[in-house]
Amino acid sequence: MNKIIIDTDTAGDDTIAILTALHSFDVLGITITGGNVDFNQQIDNALYTTEIAGYDNIPVYPGYEGPIFGQDESHTTVEDVHGSDGMGDSFFSKPKRSAEDSHAIDFIIKTVNENPGEVTLLAIAPLTNIAMAIKKDPTIVDKVKHLYIMGGTNNALGNIVPSAEYNFYVDPEAAKLVLQSGIEMTMVGWDMCTDYSLMFDKEHEEIEALATKGSKFFTDVNRVVKKFNKEVHKLDGTTHPDTLLVAIAADEKIMSQSNKYFVDVETKGELTRGYSLVDINGRLDKEPNVRVCEKVDRERFKAHLYDVLGNIK
Ligand code: BDR
Ligand code: CA
Repeated sequence: MNKIIIDTDTAGDDTIAILTALHSFDVLGITITGGNVDFNQQIDNALYTTEIAGYDNIPVYPGYEGPIFGQDESHTTVEDVHGSDGMGDSFFSKPKRSAEDSHAIDFIIKTVNENPGEVTLLAIAPLTNIAMAIKKDPTIVDKVKHLYIMGGTNNALGNIVPSAEYNFYVDPEAAKLVLQSGIEMTMVGWDMCTDYSLMFDKEHEEIEALATKGSKFFTDVNRVVKKFNKEVHKLDGTTHPDTLLVAIAADEKIMSQSNKYFVDVETKGELTRGYSLVDINGRLDKEPNVRVCEKVDRERFKAHLYDVLGNIK
């Protein structure tokens, strides 16, 4: 089984992504970065999620609570999307255990150095922790097996603002540093998630009918986002970007088309901070640095998700 570290701002879809990772990989640790909701709540959410999956031996490491070298001192959280607890307002009981004392980036650096060429990083949050780990020990760049990033977009349509996807928008400087680091990486942008990761109401019903602990958890954590999507986006369903990213890492056939391009992030734009530039025509004449996901086998993704949820009994 591949060794992985998953970096997450645990709320909503991150929880199902963690379940997917636990199902498919040897998860060495979960690292938390500032993003979706209150930082300590995110730690509790990650711990609780491991309990649900029956993996409460997986260590959880707190990282940076927000961007470090950006212009923004605070960042936008999204309780309106995922609920005030980030868990669909389920208000689950407190997790039975606590997070580790050591810092997320020290765990990442140590683990990658101890297992050169073996550790895959799954980044499903703003890239603050990953960037800071690279900054502290640039030698990890050549030792990470692969980095999968849920972030950015390849069609200029964002979610948090018109021009940017949430994870890149929260910490564009971190995203830029990571993209320029030279790590072997794959990006699954928001453009891949609006259709391909969408689970319609009918599919929510199918998942509920699995009647497992996993399917009940899915229904609970998606309750607020389902309502939010109906009211705000007039959409009968929920998107699962982080789960799609992890599923692709577990089964690359889910990514039915990809190409390597030069990708960069806007850090200064007045209207476009966090915008991800994907140079699909090679106009900038720069060395491609990122494998970009361009198509997804949705049925294969869906089967993977059902398998994960059906198996958490
Ligand atoms: C990303 O933003 C977060 O709200 C989600 O957890 C996901 O990682 C999607 O843009
Ligand atoms: Ca996330």
